[in-house]
Amino acid sequence: MSDNRERFSSRLGFILAAAGSAVGIGNLVGFPVSATKNGGGAFLLIYALFVVFICLPVMMAEMAMGRNAQKDPLGSYKLLANNDKKWKFAGFLAVLTPFMIAVFYMVITVWIFGYLTQTGLGNLDLLADPGHFGVFINSYTVFGYMAVVVIIVNLILLGGVKQGIEKAAKFLMPALLVMLLALVTYVLTLDNAMAGVKYYIIPDFSKMSASVLNGALSQAFFSLSLGMGILMTYASYISKKDDIVSSAKMVAITDSLVAFVAGLMVLPAIFSFDPNTDPSALSDSSVSMIFVYLPKILLALQNDIGYIGASIVAFSFFLLVFFAAITSLVSIVEVPTATLSDRKGISRKKALGILTLSTGVLTILCTMSFGMIDSLTSFTNYGGVNKSFFDIIVDVFYDTILPLNGLMVCLFVMYRWKKARLTQELSLGSPNYAGSLMEKYVNFSLSTFIPIILLVIFINTVATKFFDLKIFGF
Ligand code: PHE
Repeated sequence: MSDNRERFSSRLGFILAAAGSAVGIGNLVGFPVSATKNGGGAFLLIYALFVVFICLPVMMAEMAMGRNAQKDPLGSYKLLANNDKKWKFAGFLAVLTPFMIAVFYMVITVWIFGYLTQTGLGNLDLLADPGHFGVFINSYTVFGYMAVVVIIVNLILLGGVKQGIEKAAKFLMPALLVMLLALVTYVLTLDNAMAGVKYYIIPDFSKMSASVLNGALSQAFFSLSLGMGILMTYASYISKKDDIVSSAKMVAITDSLVAFVAGLMVLPAIFSFDPNTDPSALSDSSVSMIFVYLPKILLALQNDIGYIGASIVAFSFFLLVFFAAITSLVSIVEVPTATLSDRKGISRKKALGILTLSTGVLTILCTMSFGMIDSLTSFTNYGGVNKSFFDIIVDVFYDTILPLNGLMVCLFVMYRWKKARLTQELSLGSPNYAGSLMEKYVNFSLSTFIPIILLVIFINTVATKFFDLKIFGF
């Protein structure tokens, strides 16, 4: 163990930072809307089962790898595989994936920051105009917002693990919870709020299908920041005395609770705006929900509380989403930062400089692929659909490679690193783990059905996304 490796100051610091990574844009809008469209309480139940029985073991495996190796993901695979070349690719993907996801997540965070600023300036009415989003993302002001977001992320990361990541999480996470609860409390007092709560909670099992199950698992996987090397990196900053098993549980509970409670904010707001909303007609895309649909709803609150009141609610909402996005963005940029400084021995400052330049170029290209530059907007065509530069990054890294990374973690930990080592690592700080039912379940599931499920999802995504083929019938 390298003695000079940076550390979180406490287990709470680690849990808050990891939960900060997990709680993101996906929790606040994506989750509530897909739950409502896909069977309400039935979806919630299935999602919870997926979190506990599939995601938690993968999360523990990722954390155990990082803590044992005390290295970034690339270094962890290398060390734990004894330099075996066969696993080089897994390590490489575990670093390339966060790098690319950072690019796409940055684009959305920048838009959120733009909407936050505009509501702060009193322009909620402008944002609620249905044509505004298209104009906004193609205006050059986006680059100004981008500069500010890049500076914020860099300032946090320059502070390092304790003074940067942990400090930011210790402030942003409690603030996020307070804002979320305040917004839920307010929204629940609106007329027809309960109609939304009903759609969200009452189970409708008839909506269940293979593709809904696939969607729920992918959502849970993404939401818990799995397959991105983040948990491996963060766990490399905790001590051998820390309890990974209960930390992982805390992170999973916090993330799922925030997602659930966010539904009590979003659905009542939608139904109080229009009690006859057809849930199946709500957009699947979090982007159009956040930037087109919700501003309209937020503006309509002016009938109740006046324009200033509505602007304050809208500002709190965008601030909430912004805080959630920043802690996630910080966590994902930390992975390549750790890789550069661990592998090349360069300072954090230099690593961040290199990453700002490299992700910056790609982020600018993505930003320009919504209409600013035609060749980026219609970059290519596959699966029968035209794809922009941004779409490709989302399809390849978010949709396709994430489950593949998860699959590799399972196979690596079980068949190369071996079960006994996983148990040994997880028992440090959690002495009752060895021999427990939990240990048996983790070892059994990670070596059998979890990798099979992830493999099926991976193959299915490749077939449907890129070849327009339905091989498993969903
Ligand atoms: N868990 C995040 C979310 O729900 C996803 C994420 C994490 C994205 C880290 C990027 C970086 O939005």
